[in-house]
Amino acid sequence: MKSNNLNKIINKKFRLVIGLLSGTSVDAVDAVLLKITGSGINSKIKILGFTTQPIPNDIRLAIFRNSNSRTGKIDEICRLNVILGALFSDAVLKLLRKYKLNSRDIDLIGSHGQTIHHLPGRESFLGYKVKSTMQIGDPSIIANLTGITTVGDFRIADCAFDGGGAPLVPYLDYILFTHNSKNRALLNIGGISNITILPAGASKEEVFAFDTGPGNMIIDGLTYHLFRKGYDKGAVFAKKGKVNLELFNYLLEDKIYSTSPPKSTGREHYGMEFQKKLLKKAKEINKYDIVRTVTEFTAFTIYYNYKNFIEPKDKISELIISGGGSENPVIMKSLRNYFKGIKVRKMNDHGITSKNKEAVLFAVLANECISGNPANMRSVSGSTKDAILGKICLCCHSRESGNLYFKSLKR
Ligand SMILES: Nc1ncnc2c1ncn2[C@@H]1O[C@H](COP(=O)(O)OP(=O)(O)O)[C@@H](O)[C@H]1O
Ligand SMILES: [Mg+2]
Repeated sequence: MKSNNLNKIINKKFRLVIGLLSGTSVDAVDAVLLKITGSGINSKIKILGFTTQPIPNDIRLAIFRNSNSRTGKIDEICRLNVILGALFSDAVLKLLRKYKLNSRDIDLIGSHGQTIHHLPGRESFLGYKVKSTMQIGDPSIIANLTGITTVGDFRIADCAFDGGGAPLVPYLDYILFTHNSKNRALLNIGGISNITILPAGASKEEVFAFDTGPGNMIIDGLTYHLFRKGYDKGAVFAKKGKVNLELFNYLLEDKIYSTSPPKSTGREHYGMEFQKKLLKKAKEINKYDIVRTVTEFTAFTIYYNYKNFIEPKDKISELIISGGGSENPVIMKSLRNYFKGIKVRKMNDHGITSKNKEAVLFAVLANECISGNPANMRSVSGSTKDAILGKICLCCHSRESGNLYFKSLKR
């Protein structure tokens, strides 16, 4: 592909775009294929395909280790940047294979990358105060291995203007889900939970969004520690236990979920250190009760945030849930109990489901970048200016979907 193909892509009326996501759960690479017509508030999307590729456990653990400032190693991060680029490329090639397409059929990839560190606060470092965030799995590796122009690294542009680079999903929520007469909340339960409030007929400035606290991150961590399973599938472990009040009260002392927004959090807070302390407290407690308690804590923190920081301003009539946490029946039952009188449902709109939603976001953000539209939301990220998000990576070879790369790196 020659770089003047970029002009072609820019001038197209519609584009075929692949969105790639690996979130803070580090469970899988989700790849979605969509047709996007127009851009901004006029974007029309059609979902054409989806695959999800599990992340090998050794890579998952390496990401956890390297997300932690005490155990992270710069040489491992340097290598993971390329290894994950290859892993993400394979997810694209598998998607192409599944739908019998090749790289020439696709205009763009939008890739989130893997968050390795997220520092949305302004603590002083050498006397400098900046907000920063870092995603790896380089988009230039993806462009070159897939033969498709790739836009990646969306978050960092927001940090140029003192934003935290997060959350990004409210942009998608705003352009696709704002309702004329209903106040809606969109909740995504990934590794972390985040909520977007869309008052009826909201303008971009009226959208309100923040991380509420943990999603599946604590549940996954403890399930791995206690049962050597990556996550509590179908909440089978949580269902066998009951809430331990002492442990629940200990969790209530957490400062992030109870802080008023704007706020954004991640593995730096709810990751290994947090989980180790929690396990120390829970030494005498039945394993199933531990998992039940942290599962109920996740649901509670979501409701706490609604009750204290949202309802007083905007009473919602509909809560639309996406992310892997919507597959956890204990979380869902608990949320339905807390949100009595409000319609609680799983996302399933315009072909967007609870599984593909966040990957759709990165396809849409790639489309916004190429269209020259700022896609950060100052009202939610705290940045002082609009910014065009993403870095565009070009390539010179097209690829057939036959050759996969990730496994071939193991030599
Ligand atoms: N069937 C299920 N039962 C219980 N939990 C599930 C199920 N499917 C997914 N999850 C949870 O969702 C997580 C993945 O959610 P996801 O939305 O992909 O998060 P992220 O965006 O952080 O990757 C898994 O790690 C797991 O905790
Ligand atoms: Mg995931």
